[in-house]
Amino acid sequence: MIEVRNLVGGYDGAKILNGINLQVEQGEILAIMGQSGCGKTTFLRHLMGLEKPLSGSIRIDKLEMASMNEGQYRHFCRSVGVLFQNGALFNSMTIGDNVAFPLREHTHLAEPVIRIMVKMILDQVELRDVQHLMPSELSGGMSRRAALARALIMGPKLIILDEPTTGLDPIIAAEIDELILHIREVYDATMIIVAHDILSCMHVADTIAIFHEGIVLEEGTAEEIKNSQHPFVKRFFNRQPEEKQDKVSLFAE
Ligand SMILES: Nc1ncnc2c1ncn2[C@@H]1O[C@H](COP(=O)(O)OP(=O)(O)OP(=O)(O)O)[C@@H](O)[C@H]1O
Ligand SMILES: [Mg+2]
Repeated sequence: MIEVRNLVGGYDGAKILNGINLQVEQGEILAIMGQSGCGKTTFLRHLMGLEKPLSGSIRIDKLEMASMNEGQYRHFCRSVGVLFQNGALFNSMTIGDNVAFPLREHTHLAEPVIRIMVKMILDQVELRDVQHLMPSELSGGMSRRAALARALIMGPKLIILDEPTTGLDPIIAAEIDELILHIREVYDATMIIVAHDILSCMHVADTIAIFHEGIVLEEGTAEEIKNSQHPFVKRFFNRQPEEKQDKVSLFAE
């Protein structure tokens, strides 16, 4: 469904991505992992067409992103559900209006229909009777669910989740993981999830891609990644800090 070839990109000419190669099959859950600041969110922004690549290609459903016309790009946007990092809901809108926002933006559905759809989707993420509440009145886990509901309301074929569980307690995070697996089943969607939690990635993802210095250093099943012999991947999974060359020589003297 998604094919990324030699993607080079960044911001204002500053290169963050140095040749990303990735392939995601229909219905697959891909987890992206990597050090903070390595370009995971930047990659997602390119994938959504929010940033323009310096070179390389992104094909979605065999369609080259750079050559999509306006109508094709709008159609693509409608078919993608996104949970941005920190799951930002619009603070000045109720939860109901937040979740309804994509429908009001992209469709001409009548208000009663929108209200029913919002209720149904909130049920799916196990939030009930919160439509009238403001985002500030929800707990962290609840607002993540509400943001997830907003990402799902258009029935997306592709779901992009940037750190859906970061900052949540382990039990709530595990519940969101289960919800992610449930969503894949219900929507038969392809998912790309950025996450820092290794155990969670191993549980949820079919494939894990490790980003490092602007490339995909390693890609494979959880088992393959776990057994990787690459020094960085080993260090990453064993939670070891980077070796400081000067410190080593200091002790050697
Ligand atoms: N809008 C922006 N304009 C300019 N530079 C940016 C912008 N967003 C991110 N960057 C820079 O791009 C680099 C990669 O950032 P990015 O947010 O993609 O990292 P990340 O892998 O998602 O990190 P984290 O795990 O902390 O979310 C960083 O050096 C960051 O400062
Ligand atoms: Mg990020």
